[in-house]
Amino acid sequence: MDIKTLCVTGAGQMGSQIAILGALAGIETKLHDIDEAQLEAAVAANKKHIQRRVDKGKMSAQDMTAAFERIETTTQLDRAAAGADFVIEAVVERLDVKREVFAELDRACPEHAILATNSSYLMSSELAGATSRPDKVCNMHFFFPPLVMRLVEVVRGEATSEATLATTASLARRMGKQAVLLHKEMPGFLVNRILRALSNEAYFLLENGVASFEDIDAACRLGLNHPLGPFQLSDFSGLDIGYNARMEIFNRTGREEDAPAPSLKRRVERGDLGRKTGRGFYDYSTDPPTPTDD
Ligand SMILES: NC(=O)c1ccc[n+]([C@@H]2O[C@H](COP(=O)([O-])OP(=O)(O)OC[C@H]3O[C@@H](n4cnc5c(N)ncnc54)[C@H](O)[C@@H]3O)[C@@H](O)[C@H]2O)c1
Repeated sequence: MDIKTLCVTGAGQMGSQIAILGALAGIETKLHDIDEAQLEAAVAANKKHIQRRVDKGKMSAQDMTAAFERIETTTQLDRAAAGADFVIEAVVERLDVKREVFAELDRACPEHAILATNSSYLMSSELAGATSRPDKVCNMHFFFPPLVMRLVEVVRGEATSEATLATTASLARRMGKQAVLLHKEMPGFLVNRILRALSNEAYFLLENGVASFEDIDAACRLGLNHPLGPFQLSDFSGLDIGYNARMEIFNRTGREEDAPAPSLKRRVERGDLGRKTGRGFYDYSTDPPTPTDD
């Protein structure tokens, strides 16, 4: 399917940049959010990011202007969805909200439109039932920040058709991304599952006194060529994010080994959430950051 019009709903951290990726790829893009201020902030932030490309000579000022002319913002979902060939949903991570949005999209979009969710944890089959087109529903999972990160996970839901997967992967490529295909749904998809396995092992080694967190980080950087060790990465994404994700799994399974590690819990309780608060496993008031005492 040739995608001429894209609708992105949810103009937060992810949706705002996904919309500009669409416009940069030459697609007419409608960006929707329930909050007008969020839409304004999204356009302003995108202008800053893309202006930097122009300043570095990576893009012409005309191309930048043309891309922004292709984006229309609105707080009315039916207006954003009318005429869309493809929708990427990036609203808050709540099943009830997403199901409502999918039901409304199903009513407002043309029959041929594909409805993809950017959700990190919810699987598209949980949303497909809210629509009359489950074959045209799938996960299209970008990584933060979408303007920079080159991967998109495309995930087949229980009823997703081959044509939907092919169109989704080709849209990702048009946006300059590499698409990887998951043949079936699995919570956490590929990247977050692999990351969680690595990070769980890192916490296990730390909690058992096998090595310090800074040596575990050094081992991953120098022995595996990872750009950041698991504790540096936790600090980067925010310790509260990792803590909440683990709590969610723990509340579901009740298994002690799924609970957040004490070294993580103590830092979160103290409000040491990583880079964003200036202190987590490392102290960011020094250059380079220094390991903190627990
Ligand atoms: N942040 C990440 O690193 C990341 C990475 C990959 C995927 N995701 C997924 O992307 C989605 C969005 O995450 P985010 O980090 O951009 O969140 P965010 O909180 O920055 O943005 C969410 C936006 O949704 C809007 N919203 C709420 N209800 C809405 C509705 N009914 N209709 C339209 N808009 C509505 C909010 O006003 C807000 O602007 C989530 O499903 C998340 O799991 C996030």
